[in-house]
Amino acid sequence: MAPQRSKPVETLRRDPPMGRGSSRARGDANCVGHSSHGIVLQPRPAAPKAPASTAPTNPLYNVSMASAPRVFTPLDRLIREFDRALRTVAGANVAGRPYPAEGIPESLTESESRRRAAALMRVNHAGEIAAQALYHGQALTARTPAVRESLVEAAREETDHLAWCEQRIGELGGRTSLLAPVWYAGSFAIGVAAGLAGDRNSLGFVVETEKQVAEHLDSHLSELPAGDDRSRQIVTQMQHDEQVHGANARDSGGIDLPGPVQRLMRATARVMTRTAYRI
Ligand SMILES: [Fe+2]
Ligand SMILES: [Fe+2]
Repeated sequence: MAPQRSKPVETLRRDPPMGRGSSRARGDANCVGHSSHGIVLQPRPAAPKAPASTAPTNPLYNVSMASAPRVFTPLDRLIREFDRALRTVAGANVAGRPYPAEGIPESLTESESRRRAAALMRVNHAGEIAAQALYHGQALTARTPAVRESLVEAAREETDHLAWCEQRIGELGGRTSLLAPVWYAGSFAIGVAAGLAGDRNSLGFVVETEKQVAEHLDSHLSELPAGDDRSRQIVTQMQHDEQVHGANARDSGGIDLPGPVQRLMRATARVMTRTAYRI
């Protein structure tokens, strides 16, 4: 964990509460307090540069605790994976990038159109849950730290997609798939198996997954109700990201998977998308 920047006590006391848009949530080092609170606003002094050492300055830590690399036991890993799964399916995902539909007016007013758009976005959301689970499963059994880290990073980037789909579904008055835990568990098991097949096969699995997801999103662009520009903008951004993810995996050494494996992946995805449209 990065060391905490030390802040003047007075400045910390006057910060607004943590929340969306608060100065602390944005990490804005020079933000000032709310004038409506009657507090004299003072620019916060520039944060000091982080020390070269990563050791915490808290005297409760001794040097050996701070510098020793953390060794994860199998139980640690099990708890970490369970925590990730809960966070993913609980719908508590926060995007790191702006919402693609921001500024686009809502045009869907007819209930049948809203229901259909929500169902399609629910399918996309289920796909993103599956992507998270696949990548975490693959990371767990990756052979090299570099591939493991790239898979964890890929899953992190998919969090934006999860959050955007959740937000859009909420706008349309819909709900996410009731089978989200099933999609996560099944995809995680597939990811573990893909990782055990070796890093080049595992990266090839990412290439094929992203290719199929991008194709699927392309079909949704034509299936979404006419005029639903907000959903279309989200799906278009996701499609672009998936293409980049696939290209990165190929550049990292991903190989083409055998035809039967590709067909099995398509069949599995078809079951998930048809089920998630309804449930
Ligand atoms: Fe995605
Ligand atoms: Fe992706």
